[in-house]
This record gives sequence, structure tokens and C-alpha cells, in this order.
Amino acid sequence: MFTFSINMQINLNSLQYNRNLFFTSLKNIQQSSKDWDKFYATNIPSSLELHPVIFSYINPDDKILDVGMGFGKTIFDLSKKGFRYLSGVDTNQSGIDFAEEAIKKFKLKGQFNLKNANAQNLPFKNKSQNAVITQAFWTTIVDSNARNDVIREINRVLKNNGILYIADFGQTPQIPKYKNRYEIGKIKGYDFGTFEVINEKTGELEYLAHHYTKSEFSKLLADAGFKIENYLIKPVQTRSGNTINGHIIVARKVADCC
Ligand SMILES: C[S@@+](CC[C@H](N)C(=O)[O-])C[C@H]1O[C@@H](n2cnc3c(N)ncnc32)[C@H](O)[C@@H]1O
Repeated sequence: MFTFSINMQINLNSLQYNRNLFFTSLKNIQQSSKDWDKFYATNIPSSLELHPVIFSYINPDDKILDVGMGFGKTIFDLSKKGFRYLSGVDTNQSGIDFAEEAIKKFKLKGQFNLKNANAQNLPFKNKSQNAVITQAFWTTIVDSNARNDVIREINRVLKNNGILYIADFGQTPQIPKYKNRYEIGKIKGYDFGTFEVINEKTGELEYLAHHYTKSEFSKLLADAGFKIENYLIKPVQTRSGNTINGHIIVARKVADCC
């Protein structure tokens, strides 16, 4: 009888614990899009560079949209390489302000159209862009519904046969630190591959990040009307200086999305 009531208490406690974990992770996921607005301008994490493969797919006269442009690093790079029609969106206004000032200060050439907008609702006309770039962006989209909204929007604004370039972080469970992060993330109620990045000074949640598998990206793209033309997996550096798997994908819009 005594053992029964102790077991009962343990089960109730663990139920309560799991319930709390579930609601905390749900709240963190719902707020995750705002996590990225805390970074000021050039402090926005930006550890990846454009892979040269993209230059076989885009031309200087193309209209190119950088989704999750940060403080504009990729846009500056493209402008310096002679690309003329460059747009970018981000929810972080400080990144956009920095980019606009740098464009003026360094007299960068081209037509720039930078907007504070959520990638789930892109302020661009249907079939208006030749290419969309998403670099270290999908890692910030930890909610699968939001992911579907974003890919639908990207498909909508791309011209038929337009190009989607993705460079992002892949799951790297062979590194114990990351395997541990994914496993703890799963216990906390996130999808496998999603984990909390904690600020070492304050101990507070800085942001949630997701590391993708090849099959996650492949399904996301196929379901949304894209055909993968190039898929590379190569080592890349994270913001914290770790080397993990990077996924570099060039996909073509072959159908309108869902
Ligand atoms: C890791 S940073 C990468 C920035 C940039 N692409 C680079 O490589 O330098 C991710 C960026 O995506 C932006 N972001 C996250 N969620 C977004 C959303 N739903 N809509 C637009 N931008 C978003 C963040 O504000 C942040 O600037």
C-alpha cells in the first residue's frame, strides 16, 4: 500500500514535470521568431558565406531576394560581384538599418529594396523573383507550420523555373556535444534536431535552433514544388566556432506550391 502511494506520487510528479516541459517548449517555439530581433546589427549571427555553386545558376540581371538577410552581408557580396537587383527581408530592423547605411556609405551599385517583413508573408508580387537566397535562415525556423508557410511564400514569389538557394546547418550527431543537444531537445518536447542556445552570462534562453537532415530538406522542397539540382554536404562553422555539417542546396521551382 505504502509502495503503491509512493509510486503514484512519483508518476504524478513526472506527469506534472512532462506537462511543464511541454508547455515551456511550446511557449519557446511560439516566441522563437522574436529571439532573432534581440541581436543588434552586425551581432546578428552570420558565420556562412555564399558557396560558389550558386554563381552557375544566377545572372547579374536577375532579381534576387535574400530571405533572413541579417545585416546584409550576402547582399553586399552580390552587389560587389555585379548583381544589380537585390532585395532583402528580415524581422530585425537594426540589420536593415545597418545594410542601408552601408549601401550609402560605400556607394554600393545596384537597386536595393530592403524591407522589415516576416518570411511567412513576403511583401513581393507573385512570380517576381528569379532567385531566392536563404542562408543560415532555416535554422531559425523551428516550427514546422511556419516552415511550410515560408516555403509556400518563397515558391509564390519565384518565377517559374526560379532558383532557391539554401545554405544551412545539418544534424551532426557524430559530435557528442550536438548529439546531446538534440537528445535533450527531444526530451524537452522539440523536434529531434531542435535545441536551446543558452546565454552563458545570463543563463537565459537566447534562441532555438534547428539542425536539418537531408530528408527533411528534401521533403520540404519536393512537397512545395521544387526539384533539387545540387545537394552538397560539407563542413561549415557555426557562430560559436564549431565545425559541423553544412547543407548547400540549389533547387528549382518546377511547380506552383500547395
Ligand atoms: C542566423 S541569421 C543569418 C543572417 C544572414 N542570412 C547571414 O547569413 O548573414 C538569421 C536571420 O534570419 C532572420 N529571421 C528569422 N526568422 C525570420 C522570419 N520569420 N522572417 C524574416 N527574417 C527572419 C533573423 O532576424 C536573422 O537576421
